[in-house]
Amino acid sequence: MTDGLRNLDPALRSAWHPLCRSGEVTTTPRAFALLGERYVTFRSPDGDLRVFRDRCPHRFAPLSLGHCEGDVLRCSYHGWVFDADGVCIEIPALGPDATLPSRAKLDGPSAVAESHGMVFVAPETPLTPMPTIASADDPAFQRGDLPVLETRANAGLLADNFLDMAHFPFVHAATFGAGEAREVPNYTVAREGYAFAAAYEHEFANREDPGVAEGIRPLLQRRRLTYRYTAPFHLELAIEFLDAGGTNVIGFFLTPIDDETVRVYSSLWRDDLGGSEERMRDAIDFEIAVVAEDLRLQSRFAELVLPLDITAEIHTRADKTTVELRRILSDLVQAVRGSAPASSGN
Ligand code: FES
Ligand SMILES: [Fe+2]
Repeated sequence: MTDGLRNLDPALRSAWHPLCRSGEVTTTPRAFALLGERYVTFRSPDGDLRVFRDRCPHRFAPLSLGHCEGDVLRCSYHGWVFDADGVCIEIPALGPDATLPSRAKLDGPSAVAESHGMVFVAPETPLTPMPTIASADDPAFQRGDLPVLETRANAGLLADNFLDMAHFPFVHAATFGAGEAREVPNYTVAREGYAFAAAYEHEFANREDPGVAEGIRPLLQRRRLTYRYTAPFHLELAIEFLDAGGTNVIGFFLTPIDDETVRVYSSLWRDDLGGSEERMRDAIDFEIAVVAEDLRLQSRFAELVLPLDITAEIHTRADKTTVELRRILSDLVQAVRGSAPASSGN
């Protein structure tokens, strides 16, 4: 039995995590951290993505200090060369005809993939599905990325915060929260394996709609909010403006780095900005302010752990999404521990 989920829970190794943005990977090796380990990333001249542990098997030097020579990677310490599969094909100190040690091979994660402009890695065989964002492949949508943040936080608590519907008027009073209703409407959560969706419609005062000033539409308009969650820390909120038209999608992707640190990737997809870069920049600036309001609170939690024992906290009908989050993560932990060898001590 577990008392909660910390960033470095071993069960999280059997899931997909964002490692970096696709655009951050070039033909120059670069390291990114995930679950207490560092991975080196680079691309072949053809653009093929490569990800290995950032550790040369010879003397454990960081491979991210090395460089690519065409399709191969050369370590900066003693010049060993590794091919596309991570197999050592040259040890300069042994000369050209040497027999190379069979163990001279790079470790890699179990699985690597790219989805909606991000590189995902699963250190062990993933039990969770590969996360996707439908709007990312829809040409009607324009994308904007927030700067990547690193913060003191628990990834489970940040996911909890993103899915939480009752904090807007309090945490976000200085941005969008002041006009938000305090009462959370009734809604249902539809779970599918290690993912769920929850949606509700409500009325809100659309002060930004020019159609209101023109008398075309009333101030009170309908809005549908759809939350989509994929374990462990992949979150999406689609806000559809049912009267004025337009959809605003917020993606929130979390990388547990160590027990006290999370990297936060957030992106926007909008189909209502008419392709304007300036309006997208304004939307990004606004979202940066919103995320800062959340992180101000989340970074201050004394204990960086998401309780998984459903009886430990008090839940209300407004908390259905965040209860489901706990259930799914608890199921993931149990599934990984159940499939681990008994001698593993987990
Ligand atoms: S540590 Fe990499 S070649 Fe020696
Ligand atoms: Fe928030």
